[in-house]
Amino acid sequence: MILLNAVLATMTEGAGLIPDGAVIVSGERIQWAGPRADLPAAKGEQVDLGGRLVTPGLIDCHTHLVHAGDRAREFEMRLEGASYEDVARAGGGIVSTVRATRAASQSELEESALARLDRMLAEGVTTLEVKSGYGLTVADELKMLRTARALGRQRPVGVVTSLLAAHAVPPEYAGRADAYLDEVCIPALHAAHAEGLADAVDGFCEGIAFSPEQIGRVFDAARALCLPVKLHAEQLSNLGGAALAARYGALSADHLEYLDEEGIAAMAAAGTVAVILPAAFYTLRETKLPPIDLLRRHGVPMAVATDMNPGTAPMTSLTLAMNMACTFFRLTPEEALAGVTRHAAAALGLADRGRIAPGLRADLAVWDAAHPAELSYRIGATPLHTRMFGGRLDA
Ligand code: NIG
Ligand code: FE
Repeated sequence: MILLNAVLATMTEGAGLIPDGAVIVSGERIQWAGPRADLPAAKGEQVDLGGRLVTPGLIDCHTHLVHAGDRAREFEMRLEGASYEDVARAGGGIVSTVRATRAASQSELEESALARLDRMLAEGVTTLEVKSGYGLTVADELKMLRTARALGRQRPVGVVTSLLAAHAVPPEYAGRADAYLDEVCIPALHAAHAEGLADAVDGFCEGIAFSPEQIGRVFDAARALCLPVKLHAEQLSNLGGAALAARYGALSADHLEYLDEEGIAAMAAAGTVAVILPAAFYTLRETKLPPIDLLRRHGVPMAVATDMNPGTAPMTSLTLAMNMACTFFRLTPEEALAGVTRHAAAALGLADRGRIAPGLRADLAVWDAAHPAELSYRIGATPLHTRMFGGRLDA
């Protein structure tokens, strides 16, 4: 297939803009991309894109898409003055979603996740990451990961999974976090690995979750299985989680509002991507900004994701996350787009997508837009025209 008459934002370096571009797609891959004037002779169906903008398909590199129930009551409590930690300590928060998720069957989880996934696809997402972390028993963590894998069979989208059994201490282990790690989290990690269900291992390093020492134990178990790690770090306080993650060569450290320069330097040295999650910042009415300028100065790549979850980010819109990243955190629209393409791919350890370049997957988004800044600029309206996943245009 030959795509013609397109404004390409290849995202290979900067925006990599090609005003009058063309793309040759062969099978699942991009064979050639460049200015139409240089288009090599090729046979195939020609598709005129009418001057539309084409970007790499968007990548949402941090989601808790699979879960049951909602947390609207908690939203009301926070508006009445309770903090996220207050709600968690009162037995709400993550643990209330755990109750609902344990009670749900795999097909119920799949059905609710598909409805959310379809909204993401309608915004040009072609790959997303999905975490476990609301099961907190071996069986329920595996149920969540199997659901995530099933999503990738049900829809034209790439699904990358992260085992997040170190998300919260479930009530039956209250005050016994280490026993939880030994009896549930680490066995779940082994079981998920044995079934090929986990592409990475994640954790939540925070006062209301696990200490750096405890996360270190989980990461040691991941390392023994050669599974990459990532971490929810420095979201509500600074426990040195990002530096810990960097010591394990983490793919990413995520949230990072309370990150300091030491953590940033460690991330830069390890090549760990900073995933910023403005929807959680917004929902928690956080006022501490992640240290964007310092991240820039140290050359740490920044990804942007929805963090889609029922507690801190009941939002499926990745383009709204881009808008929030610009408006709250002062990312440039070009940085925001790199954050949901090239850098998001790096945060997932995927070298085969996130840019428009020969040899990469033909995962593309075609927009009713003329300039990439439009994707961050609009609020609540996503100008997607169509998507291509693995060389196939959506019907
Ligand atoms: O990314 N920080 C911890 N985990 C999620 C929130 C999960 C929840 O509140 O259900 C997050 O914000
Ligand atoms: Fe999260």
